Amino acid sequence: MKECPKLVELGRRQFLRGGAAAAAGAAAVSVVAPTPARAAVPAARVDYPANRLANIKDLKVNEPMQVNYPDIDSPGVLIKLGAPVDGGAGPDRDIVAYSTMCPHKGYPLSYNAADKTLNCPGHFSRFDCEKEGQQIWGHATQNLPMFRLTVDGAGDIHAVGVDELIYGRTRNVL
Ligand code: FES
Repeated sequence: MKECPKLVELGRRQFLRGGAAAAAGAAAVSVVAPTPARAAVPAARVDYPANRLANIKDLKVNEPMQVNYPDIDSPGVLIKLGAPVDGGAGPDRDIVAYSTMCPHKGYPLSYNAADKTLNCPGHFSRFDCEKEGQQIWGHATQNLPMFRLTVDGAGDIHAVGVDELIYGRTRNVL
């Protein structure tokens, strides 16, 4: 079908005129529209407590100790792995701590000393304690929350933060 050049030109002009009118209208609206009130934005920074969990002398190699951090409703384990790892604390860089609530649906995890993993009885997710809680199997969709540790001159181990969201929470510090 052949196009009529005059109709095409007329259509183009109407289109351009319409676009210009719309832009002018939008500009007019933006000039007279009142500025909406802004809701207060909560601070992104989280202030973690620094809680003493144990002393180095309390730990035996590859035997997990039950702890809670950042509060009593958040169970975890403190483990001296016996060899340095990324994220490990203490003079041997081998002390780590993790949440023991599975990030999938919150089942309690158990420690397997043979391969240094935390394992979920719910849907069988597994997390590597020598790799900062990396998920190595299963339904969970995030790595295991690792409690960040410092060790003072007296050998006291303090938890000072968490690197992932603890199961069931919208923020780690309630
Ligand atoms: Fe742990 Fe589902 S609750 S894998």
